[in-house]
Amino acid sequence: MNPPDDFLRWSQEITQTLEDFLHRHLPSPSIAPRRLHEAMRYAVLDGGKRVRPLLVFAAGELSGAPRDALQVVAASVELIHAYSLAHDDLPAMDNDVLRRGKPTCHVRFGEAHALLAGDTLQSLAFQWLSEFPLHPDPARQLAMIRQLAVASGSRGMGGGQAIDLESTGSLLSLPELEAMHLKKTGALIRTAILLGASCGPPLSSEEERHLAGCANALGLAYQVVDDVLDAEMDTATLGKTAGKDAAANKATYAGIMGTKQAKDFSRELLRTARESLELFGPRRRRLEELADFIVNRRS
Ligand code: IPE
Ligand code: IPE
Ligand code: MG
Ligand code: MG
Ligand code: MG
Repeated sequence: MNPPDDFLRWSQEITQTLEDFLHRHLPSPSIAPRRLHEAMRYAVLDGGKRVRPLLVFAAGELSGAPRDALQVVAASVELIHAYSLAHDDLPAMDNDVLRRGKPTCHVRFGEAHALLAGDTLQSLAFQWLSEFPLHPDPARQLAMIRQLAVASGSRGMGGGQAIDLESTGSLLSLPELEAMHLKKTGALIRTAILLGASCGPPLSSEEERHLAGCANALGLAYQVVDDVLDAEMDTATLGKTAGKDAAANKATYAGIMGTKQAKDFSRELLRTARESLELFGPRRRRLEELADFIVNRRS
């Protein structure tokens, strides 16, 4: 199933806005410490599907959020994601050599600089969120900053990564696997959606509840599909080494239920996400298209 042309045009335009922002605001490689700034830019620029930034903008359409705020949130969430990838690839974690079709950050710059690039990208995300105006109500802006901190911290992405490493080689139950995936990947996807909507006027409590249902389902679906792609696709298509999960004995949906059932499960999550969005009427269009993209993507 191919995405509609109009969706492709929209996503290209958003991606361009994001790339411009990142190019302008990431520290220049001509400023000291040059090697660290080069490593930060390398980890963030030139590659990636930019799904989380697109989710921020798509969710912003639900509440009519202004673009200036959305681009800051989108860029900050992408920094957190890029940091998580630089660290995920380190020898102490997944020990990967290829990312986004390029040598991983530590292969190119060394482990110490990949660690520091990840650390400083994380700090920069919070710097941006606190120095640009995101919302007329400062209390709302503070709550948004906190929300991203919680989602990426030990009860969210960072914690999920710890569970991933600790459970490597052991057989997880489905509820345990779901809990791990909801943290390591789901938390940031979910937060991209919720923060995008938060940049605009408040949603009703019913709308908030429905959006949270959609965000949870898509967050989990994102990693279920990542597990399936690792098992089924090739390295050139993925831009990262395929088949690593089975080789490293990782706990994955593809491993535990098989790829067919895992795909069925991702489609079930897509249905849940789409149903949760119905309430929003035509404002839901971009988020619905992205939900389809997330589950039907081939890389
Ligand atoms: C890969 O994320 C790691 C996961 C959290 C599943 P993406 O598939 O979004 O990677 P990029 O950003 O497109 O490279
Ligand atoms: C990564 O999961 C999740 C985070 C980076 C938070 P994976 O280890 O499956 O991601 P890939 O497959 O290396 O992109
Ligand atoms: Mg990993
Ligand atoms: Mg990995
Ligand atoms: Mg993976």
